[in-house]
Amino acid sequence: MSTDRTARVYESVLEMLPSEENPSPMVRLGATSPRPESFPLFAKLEWTNPFGSVKDRAAAYLVRELERAGKLGSGERGIVEPTSGNTGISLAAIAGASGYRMLAVVPNRVPLEKKLLLRIAGAELEVVSDELCPTPGMGEGSIALAKGYARAQGERWALPNQYENEANVRAHVETTGPEIWRQTGGAVTHVFLSLGTCGTATGLARFFREKKPGGVRIVAVQPSEGHDVPGLRNVSQLEVSKLYEPELVDELVEVDYELAYPRALELCRREGLLAGPSSGLVLEGARRVVERELVGHGVLIFPDNAFKYTSNFVRHVPALAEGVAPGKGGPR
Ligand SMILES: Cc1ncc(COP(=O)(O)O)c(C=O)c1O
Repeated sequence: MSTDRTARVYESVLEMLPSEENPSPMVRLGATSPRPESFPLFAKLEWTNPFGSVKDRAAAYLVRELERAGKLGSGERGIVEPTSGNTGISLAAIAGASGYRMLAVVPNRVPLEKKLLLRIAGAELEVVSDELCPTPGMGEGSIALAKGYARAQGERWALPNQYENEANVRAHVETTGPEIWRQTGGAVTHVFLSLGTCGTATGLARFFREKKPGGVRIVAVQPSEGHDVPGLRNVSQLEVSKLYEPELVDELVEVDYELAYPRALELCRREGLLAGPSSGLVLEGARRVVERELVGHGVLIFPDNAFKYTSNFVRHVPALAEGVAPGKGGPR
């Protein structure tokens, strides 16, 4: 049997990566949508990508670019990237499926759960002391260390560098944008998204400026400072991303980061969408814009689902753990 997308039979997991012909699904929001008639909202479910998040797109493009440049090959050559999150998982899985090594450089304060997930996905880990990583989010120290590997052992380790690599942006110009265009029949007026490396924001802004000039507002929803929404950066933390182009973002909506969790729970419980905290944050930002503008056609990028974040959910909504905390007994 060979690949047959309509029957969903694939020769390799890599063929499941999203594209205009194989888009991530879009689902209309119901109970959580403030004006469903005049301003319908559609959630683009990026957790249905093969390795579980929006970062599958960037990772695939980053690896393909290294392959094209002849920097990867079987055997001892591999990918080194400073990442403790979704990009690491996607890169590790793509590397595994392609026969490459993958080394993730992570600050030691990254929770054990995340380090283990990277190992489960097949990454080797280099843990960097926290002092090397002074800022919240992905530490600049890990970025410097990963660059060091690529400089000193360039024959062995190739650095995609998601924070600086245009391939991250291109992934969204060539896949996410055309998918949204096709799925909305060109009706989209607003895209609500969040900022990490800014690959998604910059890529979609470039695509829609070309496709529908002035017709699609790019609204970036950012968590308040000192946040606990993994994968995201407040604009004050964005200097590390060379892909952030402020003039491409039509509006920045800042949301109290604590709201990311109750909003994600609303999506889980009222829509059956098992969304992670960054999706909850995007929902809150979108609702505010809908209440102000009243008419439109919105697409919300939901980057990943809830499963990686149970500890974060409990930190912000402690009631979730009532009666199920360790030591309370009950059948295993
Ligand atoms: C959970 C989550 N949400 C949102 C983003 C933001 O995506 P981007 O890096 O394209 O800005 C990321 C990745 O960085 C992420 O891991």
